[in-house]
Parts: sequence; C-alpha cells; structure tokens
Amino acid sequence: MSLEKNVDFSIQKAEKSKIGSIDFENVKFGSVFTDHMLVCHYKDGAWGQVEIKPYGPMSFEPSMNVFHYGQAIFEGMKAYKDENDKVWLFRPRENWKRFNKSAERLAMPHIDETRFVDGLKALLQLDQDWVRKGEGNSLYIRPFMIGTHEGVVAGPSTEFMFCIILSPARTYYSGKVKVQIAEHYSRAANGGVGSTKCSGNYAGQFYPTKLAQEAGYQQVIWTDDTTHTKLEEAGTMNVFFRIGDTLITAPTSERILDGVTRKSLIAIAESKGIKVEVKSIVVQELLDAHAKGELKEIFGAGTAVTVGQIEGFAYQDKYYALPEVADADAYAIQLKTALQGIQQKRIEDTFDWTE
Ligand code: COI
Repeated sequence: MSLEKNVDFSIQKAEKSKIGSIDFENVKFGSVFTDHMLVCHYKDGAWGQVEIKPYGPMSFEPSMNVFHYGQAIFEGMKAYKDENDKVWLFRPRENWKRFNKSAERLAMPHIDETRFVDGLKALLQLDQDWVRKGEGNSLYIRPFMIGTHEGVVAGPSTEFMFCIILSPARTYYSGKVKVQIAEHYSRAANGGVGSTKCSGNYAGQFYPTKLAQEAGYQQVIWTDDTTHTKLEEAGTMNVFFRIGDTLITAPTSERILDGVTRKSLIAIAESKGIKVEVKSIVVQELLDAHAKGELKEIFGAGTAVTVGQIEGFAYQDKYYALPEVADADAYAIQLKTALQGIQQKRIEDTFDWTE
C-alpha cells in the first residue's frame, strides 16, 4: 500500500454550528451528525484534494454505480475525550487497513493512510466540541466509499467518493438480547464478501433479522452457509461464548469479519489470565454445554455496542435461557469495562492502542 505524502487539504467551515440544538443526553445512535464532513473524489486513477466542508446533502446522477451495482464499503470507529479534553482515536490504523481490504475485494481503489487517518484527525479537530467526555460518551465515525461512475453498464466504477461523517453517541445499550440461531439464511459464504464491511452484507441481513424479530428475538446468530452448524457472528457483531471459564470465538475467515473490538477483547482477556480459544464452535457443543450447566455467557463484540450481552438463544423452535451471572463475575462486563477504560483513558493503555 503506498503512502501519499503532501496531500492537498481544503477546509471550509460551517457558518453556524448546530451543536447548541443537540440533546446529547438522549441522542439516538447514528441519527445526528456534526457540523462538518470529509469528502475526497477518485478520478483518472488518483485521489484528489481532501475537502473538509459543512455536513449536508449531496446531489448525484440516478445512473450512478452505487445505486445499481452496490460498490459501497464502510468502517465503524469511535473517538473519545479524556478528562483533560484531549480527543483520542482507538486503533484507527486497523480500520484503515481493513477498509483497504474491503476496497480490494469490491474492486475499489485503496486509499492512503494520510487521507484516511490524517484527514480524519483534521476533521475531528474542527468538530472536537462534539466529542463529549464522561463514561459512555463517544463520537461514532463512519468512513465510507461509493462508486460514483455514471451509467448502468455492469462493471466496476472508475470514479469513487470517499467520505467521513461523524455522529455523537451514548453507550449503545439496549439491555440483554435474545437471539435466534440461523438454520436457513446466511450472511456470508466462502468466496463471498462476508469478511468485508461492504454495505450489501448488511442489507442482506435485514430480512432474516426482521423474521427473527417477528418471532420474538432481537438478533440472529449467523451460522456457516453449508452446514448451518458453525456459530460465526451475532447480528452485526463478532460473537463470544463462555463455556466453564474458557472464552471461545470463531477464527476469522472469508465469512467472518476481523473485528477490531474482537481482537482487542481477546488481547485484554489473555492479559487478565482468561483462557481464550479461537476455534470453530458448533451448535451441538453449545447445547451440550447448556445441558451440563457449563454455558455461562454469550456476547457480541463490535464498535457500536462494544460488548452486547445475550440472555438466551433459540434453536429449532426451542429456547435456551442462559444463567444469571453477577456483573462482577461476567466476562462480558469485565472486558467491556477494561476496553472502555482504555478507550476513554481511565485505565493505562499498556497495549498502545490509542492515538
Ligand atoms: C459497528 O459496530 O461499527 C458496526 O459495524 C455496526 C454498525 C452496522 C452499526
């Protein structure tokens, strides 16, 4: 991956900030956006100037590639503010690297680290008042890229737009959720795009998730597409299982996203002396562990929620409740507290993850 230096930046400030009209205490996840955004266009084989300008609507041709063939990828990241009002990013270069992996799989161009990371830092500097300090507060960062070539010829776009928008967030916590293990639908297949953050991956989940919700569950635990026995992800997150005192999560693959939260939790768990096994886990192992009283916790891990606890799962029309584990004993809570402590600089970042 090449690193372009001396990138041309332009900054146009919003005339008036909207910040005074925002109810930060009650903001709904992903519904409010800051005063500015970053936009950069790719044309004739090269990325152009990084423009930081007021957040607002854009106008596009109806024939544009992304509307028809869906060349679209994104990332999810967060910025935090410490007690001294300094803004921090959590492992942003991991998101940049993964963005380029997604880009490659979707036949889109790589973007250089300068435009992605330094561009984001310049945007954050302008909108730093939107990052609130205090436990549970953060600024959700959504970088994305779309194919902007005009015309409906089915082929990769030759023109692209990279954009970053920012949205203030409170801890995205809706309580423990009930999940349904997928027996028919899949989110990913070998050779497909499951390990990328392409937009279509998420669109394809909406219908099976709606069916699960109609049946009384909030999310789906996705299984492998051929046998529907391997437990792979939960909703839009990686998934962890605690059997006895061992934490198990599936290895990343063509079907599983290499989650930044997932790998951070694994590292934190190991540093706390928790035994972690990165291995394929099948439904029968879960049912057997549940029958023996050894299945203690299941939780999802992702940027938006950090750690999302699961209270039980349905499989073949039978519901299996998980035992109540006190917060002090729950791996989900211990790991979430440690991760958020590092992200918000309340705990020393011995991993060197914040910048
Ligand atoms: C994230 O956790 O950042 C995700 O990708 C979930 C998102 C779809 C809200």
